[in-house]
Amino acid sequence: MEKKRILTGDRPTGKLHIGHYFGSLKKRVEMQNSGEYDMYILIADVQALTDNFNNPDKVRKNVREVAIDYLSVGIDPSKTTIYVQSMIPETAELTVFYSNLVTIARLQRNPTVKTEIAQKKELFGESVTYGFLGYPVSQAADITTFEGELVPVGEDQEPLIEQCREIVRKFNNIYGEVLIEPKAVLSEGKRIKGLDGNDKMGKSLGNAIYLSDSEEEITKKVMSAVTDPNRIKKDDLGNPDICMVAYYHNLFTTKEDVKIVCEECKAGKRGCVACKKQLAKNIIEELKPIREKRAYYEAHPEEVDKILIEGTNRAREVAKQTMKKVKKAMKLDYFE
Ligand code: TRP
Repeated sequence: MEKKRILTGDRPTGKLHIGHYFGSLKKRVEMQNSGEYDMYILIADVQALTDNFNNPDKVRKNVREVAIDYLSVGIDPSKTTIYVQSMIPETAELTVFYSNLVTIARLQRNPTVKTEIAQKKELFGESVTYGFLGYPVSQAADITTFEGELVPVGEDQEPLIEQCREIVRKFNNIYGEVLIEPKAVLSEGKRIKGLDGNDKMGKSLGNAIYLSDSEEEITKKVMSAVTDPNRIKKDDLGNPDICMVAYYHNLFTTKEDVKIVCEECKAGKRGCVACKKQLAKNIIEELKPIREKRAYYEAHPEEVDKILIEGTNRAREVAKQTMKKVKKAMKLDYFE
């Protein structure tokens, strides 16, 4: 039986954090190791430029950072193809073809795009660029260039997958059944909140723990996490439901220990400092193998480049095959 194709990726705009880890990376590694899928992961540099067109250095630098993050969490280049989006021209070509199959009003209604535009007023002013508004079209091209059936992503990406499905249906309707409709695969874990209690963990919010953070950085960040504001003295009775330290204990601490943490907190028997120290230790422990692998790849940049070049070459072959089918369906195969 043919293995199901997975297509997924991230914008290289910064190092990846534990929100990415629980939101999608863990799931991708699990799916890779199950041996049931043929997985492609793209580093979406073209998409990153849609809201960083004025900062090409940042995008360039983070292509390698994100590649190292992938390798560090256990993405294995002998099982999974990691490639660079801008090096697959077929994706850009498909984006142009798909742009006829989607209306401006539909793009403006996409909830993810809508939220992002509102957050990027400073960059876009009163009028958003054609490129940013259209990035869901380019993302649909990313997925379908590789005939991706499954897309393991965080829940904020669902509207983009839905938009891709609509484009696929429209294409197949007009030009014939060529493209595959993808499905989003969400992790069981919900989106991870920031250290400050914000619903989202993110670089711009300054509330993230990165996979690349040192032991000292992790400890410092955990010490600054928001706890129950009504708890001033150690023997005040605490409420773990409104404490970010308890929230992260749920992710990094064994079930039995979480129970003890919460009971002692509620009874005023556990100080926040001790509780934070225990959490920091657990996070450091869980991320240790990731940090060690990262150190290895940081010391061997030529290996990272080789992995990206080989992955991109492999991806290009698949992209060419898809493009052939698409052009034939669209009657653009003039001299075949
Ligand atoms: N939109 C994703 C992000 O913000 C990155 C991405 C680009 C992607 N193309 C994709 C994800 C295709 C899944 C499938 O990080």
